[in-house]
Amino acid sequence: ATTKSANIVWHEGDVSREERQQYVGQKGATIWFTGLSASGKSTIASALEQHLLHNGVTTYRLDGDNVRFGLNKNLGFSAEDRTENIRRISEVAKLFADAAVIALTSFISPYRADRDSARELHEKAGLPFVEVFVDVPIEVAEQRDPKGLYKKARAGLIKGFTGIDDPYEAPEKAELHIRSDLEEVAVSVKRITDYLVEKGYIT
Ligand code: PPS
Repeated sequence: ATTKSANIVWHEGDVSREERQQYVGQKGATIWFTGLSASGKSTIASALEQHLLHNGVTTYRLDGDNVRFGLNKNLGFSAEDRTENIRRISEVAKLFADAAVIALTSFISPYRADRDSARELHEKAGLPFVEVFVDVPIEVAEQRDPKGLYKKARAGLIKGFTGIDDPYEAPEKAELHIRSDLEEVAVSVKRITDYLVEKGYIT
């Protein structure tokens, strides 16, 4: 990785990953939800968060409410800003996963290259990364339109809206594919949980 200053030095702590996992009592991982606005990412991530917590798994969800209003409040929706948004979120998720927490991220993350970078960041650090594609036809998302943003985008009041006049690059190698218009939230939560158990990320 490149850094702005040449005068910073990596410092190893005294706690190894294994030691941390052993004392915390679980492993960490990042579950990366991606999909159009109103695809159901946050609904599923939130239900999964509750399910995991209630079953004794420490988890934390990153989404627009705690990221775009805080850490990333200086970012908008240009291609550069979206890339930076996803880059910072990837780094934060990685820290949570390193801390032996199950990090859940729910952002559109429309560009494949940015999601691939997030994956690579985790894989290089030896941390599991699970991409979950929350897929609905754009007509369904537009019909739902909980915030009235598709309507505004169609009217030309919002420029560069994902799926309307900004691209959404659908995943080609997502670990899980969810059609949220065809599957109940509880079923999606179970499918994701089963996958995490099968992979040994949670017990
Ligand atoms: S991104 O592309 O991953 O950086 O986007 P994200 O941080 O997930 O933010 C998406 C939410 O912001 C609202 N919004 C927009 N979405 C897409 N395109 C444009 N131009 C835009 N402007 C505002 C929108 O409500 C998204 O909310 P969700 O929760 O995804 O429905």
